[in-house]
Amino acid sequence: MLRRIRTTKKLAKRMDLQYFTQPHPFRSWRLWLSVLVPVVAVVWFAALRAHGQKVYSSGPLSKSHAVFAKRCDVCHVTTLGFFRAKVSDSACLKCHDAPAHQIDRVAFTPACGSCHLEHKGSLRLASTADSSCTQCHADLHTRTGSPQYVREISDFDNEHPEFAVLRPGGKDPGQVKLNHYAHLRPNLPGPDGPVQMDCQDCHRLTGMEGNWPYAAQTMPPLKPVTAGASADMRPSRSRDYMSPILYATQCAGCHVKDLQFDKRFEQSAPHDKPEVVQAFLLQKYSEYFASHPGALSEPVAPERILPGKFKLPLPVPHNRQEWMDQQVMLADRLLFDKGCKLCHVMIETNAPLPTVAPSSIPARWLLHADFSHNSHRLLTCVACHNRTPESRETADILLPGVASCRSCHQERGPKQDAASGNCSECHSYHDWKREQPIKGKYLIPQLQAAR
Ligand code: HEC
Ligand code: HEC
Ligand code: HEC
Ligand code: HEC
Ligand code: HEC
Ligand code: HEC
Ligand code: HEC
Ligand code: HEC
Ligand code: HEC
Ligand code: HEC
Repeated sequence: MLRRIRTTKKLAKRMDLQYFTQPHPFRSWRLWLSVLVPVVAVVWFAALRAHGQKVYSSGPLSKSHAVFAKRCDVCHVTTLGFFRAKVSDSACLKCHDAPAHQIDRVAFTPACGSCHLEHKGSLRLASTADSSCTQCHADLHTRTGSPQYVREISDFDNEHPEFAVLRPGGKDPGQVKLNHYAHLRPNLPGPDGPVQMDCQDCHRLTGMEGNWPYAAQTMPPLKPVTAGASADMRPSRSRDYMSPILYATQCAGCHVKDLQFDKRFEQSAPHDKPEVVQAFLLQKYSEYFASHPGALSEPVAPERILPGKFKLPLPVPHNRQEWMDQQVMLADRLLFDKGCKLCHVMIETNAPLPTVAPSSIPARWLLHADFSHNSHRLLTCVACHNRTPESRETADILLPGVASCRSCHQERGPKQDAASGNCSECHSYHDWKREQPIKGKYLIPQLQAAR
């Protein structure tokens, strides 16, 4: 059989040249699709816009805010159903009260989102970049007058100033005498024989005091009066400072003898204001006179007579009043001119009794920075407070300087094998003292709205 020969011409003849002009189900579909797809897309887009905003691309939310990933609109407030990429401070302030920095002094206040960079993964939002601080602190200006703080701080490694209290003229406001050197020497006489004192016998973190080894057996602690009052502490970090020094918990165990005034009484004077001490003495001697008929003729024990304070021999008392006056006067001199004076600055005035200078031992020194002893517990105390073992005066300032911090904290932190030297590592920005409580606004299902 001969093969049928197909020429191109023959083949071409078989084609229907009107094909594309004839109606066909597929072609009408194509028409419909080209119209419908964009319409559907627009409707879908609009619908999503009305409900959630996942349709926009963005980085993941920070760890603390991840729970709002279904409710972009808690921050991106929608206007007329339209997503707005810009986030206003008022959105953040619905859930946070973060009082602004130096509100009376700044020339302007940056937006929340310019420091707390959202959508950068699980980064801690509060670790802000240094540029968020140096935009002002590299050349500080205030709205009124010249700055009271160092004006040019553009980084930590090189430009950060020495801490103010360690600059010339810095002072220790504390007025309780303490000789660190004397207390840290070996074989110090303790209550039950010689001891070697350690920093932690007197200084422990607030909230971790446990039992103080040299506390008084029974003595109500006097309320401490400290220069850096607790109002200066942000509650969350206050544990990381040292607990205040109290006579009752840190000194009495060894120094109760300095409050003893007369061997005839087991009890020592109360550790309190001179008026309270005086009232205590009057009561004790009055009770003693009533229960000891021979009191008038008892001789005065020689150790009760503070040398140089009296014209000797002491006059012989003739009645209860003269006896009381003499006994109380002897006790007063022994306490106020010796016992109390061991530790206190006693202020003599025209009044019959001296006053005790306010103790003013700072609970916190560096009020313009945060510090955490707990984060540095790996170090010995003298690694930072290196002058302590040789210090003999309360007035010595024993705090470490900025150079010591720089041996570990550096600007690029972990990237140069160091602890972070970011401004936000050590400083607060917000004025937390002014923080107001926030009233919750959401029910649980409202945070789980559809995407
Ligand atoms: C906790 C608050 C918060 C939430 C919740 C939030 N964002 Fe943002 N978003 C921001 C901030 C702040 C910016 C920076 C805006 C500015 O500079 O005003 C931002 C910026 C954006 C931008 C602009 C581009 C960019 O990355 O800078 C997009 C897009 C965006 N967000 C999408 C979303 C989406 C989608 C969601 C929900 C999954 C969402 N956001 C949830 C705070 C938030
Ligand atoms: C719907 C409530 C809500 C909104 C709106 C909101 N936050 Fe938060 N934020 C939270 C919650 C809850 C936490 C976690 C608990 C906490 O630390 O207080 C948090 C934590 C934080 C933290 C500390 C955690 C960290 O990673 O350092 C910062 C900083 C913060 N938010 C800043 C902002 C900023 C800036 C905005 C506005 C862009 C904002 N927040 C908007 C609820 C909200
Ligand atoms: C908008 C400008 C501005 C920004 C941004 C700014 N500051 Fe300040 N800062 C000031 C002003 C103004 C003062 C007060 C100066 C004065 O009273 O002399 C001040 C004071 C301070 C002080 C000393 C007083 C105090 O409050 O303890 C510290 C510390 C401080 N800022 C740290 C920071 C840190 C850390 C940042 C970044 C997170 C920052 N500042 C961001 C303007 C700013
Ligand atoms: C372990 C016992 C012990 C404890 C606890 C103790 N001291 Fe002393 N302190 C001594 C001894 C011992 C002396 C030597 C002088 C003496 O015998 O009175 C002394 C001396 C002093 C002196 C005179 C220092 C000098 O320059 O000679 C002062 C002031 C003083 N102590 C204050 C305190 C204060 C304040 C506390 C509590 C924070 C305290 N001490 C806790 C044992 C102690
Ligand atoms: C061993 C040292 C020591 C002796 C001795 C001592 N005190 Fe104190 N005193 C302290 C310390 C430490 C404080 C600060 C913390 C506190 O309140 O316990 C203090 C605080 C005080 C305060 C509160 C001062 C303020 O800040 O307003 C008064 C008042 C006081 N003492 C009175 C006395 C009197 C009176 C005596 C003598 C009878 C005396 N003290 C003996 C160590 C001593
Ligand atoms: C390792 C901790 C640390 C780092 C990091 C740090 N500071 Fe400080 N800064 C301090 C301490 C501590 C003080 C002393 C505070 C005081 O005297 O109350 C201080 C003091 C200051 C003061 C007050 C200066 C004055 O005149 O007394 C300012 C302003 C300041 N720092 C800004 C900054 C800025 C901006 C950065 C970032 C470039 C920064 N700090 C980084 C610890 C740090
Ligand atoms: C990394 C250095 C560092 C180490 C380690 C360190 N300190 Fe401090 N210490 C500081 C700084 C900085 C301050 C100032 C903090 C403030 O009051 O603002 C301070 C303050 C103090 C104060 C004054 C009261 C207070 O809490 O501010 C005492 C007391 C003290 N330290 C004792 C100790 C003892 C005890 C140890 C050992 C257990 C120790 N420190 C370890 C750096 C250090
Ligand atoms: C007997 C109790 C006692 C012992 C032990 C003791 N301290 Fe103190 N420390 C005090 C008292 C009281 C003050 C407050 C008076 C003053 O400023 O000196 C003080 C103050 C300080 C301060 C405050 C800053 C300053 O300049 O005054 C530092 C830091 C400090 N001590 C570190 C140490 C270290 C480190 C050790 C251990 C090596 C230590 N102390 C051992 C009682 C003690
Ligand atoms: C031995 C090295 C070392 C020295 C010296 C040192 N630090 Fe630190 N510091 C650290 C480490 C490690 C951390 C914890 C790292 C972290 O969490 O980022 C830290 C954390 C901190 C923090 C944050 C604490 C917190 O829990 O929020 C502050 C503030 C700080 N240091 C201040 C100081 C100051 C001020 C000095 C100087 C007086 C200083 N450091 C000296 C190693 C050091
Ligand atoms: C100039 C930079 C800057 C600006 C602007 C800023 N913050 Fe902060 N914020 C910080 C720094 C630094 C911290 C960490 C230190 C502190 O607690 O002050 C912080 C801490 C916070 C925290 C607490 C985090 C924690 O540890 O619990 C919240 C919440 C917060 N900021 C919210 C806001 C809000 C809301 C705004 C806007 C009204 C805002 N911030 C504006 C720098 C800034």
